[in-house]
Amino acid sequence: MNKTLVLKVDSEEPDVEKIHVAADFIKRGGLVAFPTETVYGLGANALNAEAVLALFEAKKRPLDNPPIVHVCDVKDVCRLAETVPSQAEALMERFWPGPLTLIFKRSDVVPDVTVAGLDTIAVRMPRHNVALALIRESDCPIAAPSANLAGRPSPTSAEHVLDDLGGRIGAVLDAGPTVVGVESTVLDLTVDPPQVLRPGGTTFEVLLEVLGRVELNPAVTAEKALRMEKVRSPGLRHKHYAPDAEVVVVEGEVDAVVAKVDELVKLYREDGRRVGVLATDETVSRYSADVVKSLGSRSDLSVVARNLFRLLREFDLEGVDVIVAEGVPAEGLGLAVMNRLRKASGYHIVKAR
Ligand code: TXA
Ligand code: MG
Repeated sequence: MNKTLVLKVDSEEPDVEKIHVAADFIKRGGLVAFPTETVYGLGANALNAEAVLALFEAKKRPLDNPPIVHVCDVKDVCRLAETVPSQAEALMERFWPGPLTLIFKRSDVVPDVTVAGLDTIAVRMPRHNVALALIRESDCPIAAPSANLAGRPSPTSAEHVLDDLGGRIGAVLDAGPTVVGVESTVLDLTVDPPQVLRPGGTTFEVLLEVLGRVELNPAVTAEKALRMEKVRSPGLRHKHYAPDAEVVVVEGEVDAVVAKVDELVKLYREDGRRVGVLATDETVSRYSADVVKSLGSRSDLSVVARNLFRLLREFDLEGVDVIVAEGVPAEGLGLAVMNRLRKASGYHIVKAR
């Protein structure tokens, strides 16, 4: 196993020399993990089929699930997309750089493996100086799925990346924890009205405000796994975001949730299992379990989103067998949080009444 080079950089003003070293890996067909505002991505030259194939292998990702292609300039979209609808221009103007991924019809310069054989491509411009500097210095669009082993919670720090991929990738640019904490929103512009395929860092509410018409793909709010043919985004088909521990999500009004979580904790502990509770600031003092952690206040879902993946990973480090997680309101960033939690639980959802 080769050692993964760790390049520590300032998140605002990254050291030019270190960016240069990282870009060199990309230019030679190598793999570099890097921070974005959402989560850490695992990057490869999007136009180099071999490099992208190596990326799928390093992550153990199924080849039918294409990565997002990252650019540092709106102009780069014209090379990757066959056409850029006027709606897209308005969205890029308003939300880029930022956590919004747009799906376009793809152009011929993109290798098949990069788009998993689809006729569409996912593109975004991240709002992070390290990511932007890396793309610029590499002088190519960078394909980058989240830098975790397939199925695991996405990495919000370089440590998470190394835990999953240490020794499997060339380098990681370490600029500390990410700010948004859940991945970008994926918006399909090849259908009318545009459709959110994955809720994320750009809220549905703000997209609706700008677009007037936009739909949520049924898989986004699904309470059980949907049949394959109904699922338009390949990534929605696979197991996702799951820690080693089993996850159960309890949804409902706060007091009912607390009572139900308590009941479940007792049941699992009677079974001899080590139980963790994923609570919120408002409820955390009301539980007794083996490990209790708070996502943050229910009144600030941006903090909840930022903490989610880190806490799921922490429960594993503490050897918890089962995590009983409180649901939060599915509005604003809460929609992305609930989507990830439900998937992490394999749709083991308990309604508290
Ligand atoms: O915030 C993010 O989006 C992070 C950072 C690194 O930028 N990236 C990320 O990539 O989450 P990944 O590969 O883990 O998720 C990409 C999602 C998957 O659900 C994939 O199925 C979907 O985008 N996707 C990619 N290309 C697509 C396409 N042509 N049509 C529909 N969905 C697509
Ligand atoms: Mg991912």
